[in-house]
Amino acid sequence: MTGHDVTLEWPDGRTERVAVGPRETVLEVAGREGIRLPYDCRKGTCTACVGRLRAIDEDGAEPDAAAGDGDRATDPIDAAAAFDYRRAPTALTDREQRAGYVLLCIALVRTDCRVEVGPRVRSEVGGSPWS
Ligand code: FES
Repeated sequence: MTGHDVTLEWPDGRTERVAVGPRETVLEVAGREGIRLPYDCRKGTCTACVGRLRAIDEDGAEPDAAAGDGDRATDPIDAAAAFDYRRAPTALTDREQRAGYVLLCIALVRTDCRVEVGPRVRSEVGGSPWS
């Protein structure tokens, strides 16, 4: 099985694309390619690496209609539509995961997608008793 392309959207409008294999995480690939994503625990317990799923791209197409009406700025997309986890993402509530938040240090990518990253995304999650 081949990997998937993940487009990282930064607050300044910059985007970077990484090709993530089936057994690796976005954080691992980004680090290997010199992209400086924030992280701390690398175990899913702190939210330092959190991103927010903005769109699911099928072969570069527009967002999946089943995942919302395509308004990337407002439509939450359940992170489970694009990611599995190596271990339980204890830093995120179920509600945060359904709203698209994903821990990039432990998430395994299931489809091409776009993910917003940066400090603003982290400020949107409620925090963890571990951080
Ligand atoms: S680095 Fe701590 S949850 Fe990902």
